[in-house]
Amino acid sequence: MNSPLLTPYRSTALHLPNRTAMAPMTRARADDTTGVPTPIMTEYYTQRAAAGLIVSEGIWPHPLGKGGPGVPGLTESAHVEGWRRLTRAVHAAGGRIFAQLWHVGRVSHPDLLGGEQPVAPSAVAISHGQIFTAAGPKDYVAPHELSAAETAETVRSHATAARNAIDAGFDGVEINGAYGYLIAQFLSDNANLRTDGYSDRVRFAIEVVEAVAATIGADRTGLRISPGNPLLDIVESDPAPRYHRLLDALDGMGLAYLHVVQSGKYAALEDLRPRWNGTVVATCDGPEPGGRGQAERTLRAGLADVYAFGRLFLANPDLPQRIASDAPLNPMRTTGMYGGGAEGYVDYPRLSDGAGRGRTGVSPAR
Ligand SMILES: Cc1cc2nc3c(=O)[nH]c(=O)nc-3n(C[C@H](O)[C@H](O)[C@H](O)COP(=O)(O)O)c2cc1C
Repeated sequence: MNSPLLTPYRSTALHLPNRTAMAPMTRARADDTTGVPTPIMTEYYTQRAAAGLIVSEGIWPHPLGKGGPGVPGLTESAHVEGWRRLTRAVHAAGGRIFAQLWHVGRVSHPDLLGGEQPVAPSAVAISHGQIFTAAGPKDYVAPHELSAAETAETVRSHATAARNAIDAGFDGVEINGAYGYLIAQFLSDNANLRTDGYSDRVRFAIEVVEAVAATIGADRTGLRISPGNPLLDIVESDPAPRYHRLLDALDGMGLAYLHVVQSGKYAALEDLRPRWNGTVVATCDGPEPGGRGQAERTLRAGLADVYAFGRLFLANPDLPQRIASDAPLNPMRTTGMYGGGAEGYVDYPRLSDGAGRGRTGVSPAR
């Protein structure tokens, strides 16, 4: 029970009853035609309100930023109204929730964008793999290179979506600069071949953060990064100097937090934590879900203030209570991970349901 995950966390921006965050997870249950959140999404997030902080699934801040069927948006008043119902329910259940703004850039397809071509820093397609569309998997296409004016408009769209997020009752916004999507494409060696000002690979990320912070306040703005992560054909040959420059530019702004996804060879948390004076949220990504033991070691080593669990929160809506009582964890099922209905989404038992206790659970420690 004596876990650092269960101690409160207070900063200027965040007042959290515990140090577990629910990591952003795309679950593809929004209305696919409109991008409006559906009632079952309210049920899903409300079930997880015991998290110190919920970070929502990725949400497109621009109509060209959508990366899959059923991914929600935040560009129109219908989106704002839909999210408002959801954030009210999460707050009524005692929770706090940030919206993750997720522009996928080249990781899309005309089928997902009303026939439009995906956009990216440069016209470089992902060389292998396929993207999931309503008509099944399709090959990636070459993206349209954003012009200077389009780049500026894309930056502004993040600020507008952030304003919409606050209007919709979110407590703040997390900008997704991780995992190979638009911001990570600008940060990369191989997806950004620009010769204009954006050949400075950190510039786009800084402009998006500055635009969002200027609109909703730095204390309601978080940024997620995954330095050195090669997903979706990204090459960052020497991540340390690039992320040092990024952090040096952002550290003085007073952001709500920096969310660092650590994976692979580069020990991002050890390297970056000493360079960041504000709050650090950590996620350790690998083939197995990040576990309680790893999270506690990360907090005890002073490498982060808050630990974000993805797959464990997906399968355990009451994760903090399970940690507190050393209860076994529900194993994650792959059914319903992306899209579908209630199965694999809102049917994971809580301890208070009287099910799941001591049956097929796995040990919470790793
Ligand atoms: C179903 C699923 C959907 C995800 N969607 C997102 C997303 O929308 N945005 C994001 O930044 N990361 C996303 N991730 C990555 C998680 O936030 C997290 O970094 C990863 O799962 C590693 O953490 P874990 O080991 O605790 O699961 C997703 C992960 C899963 C399993």
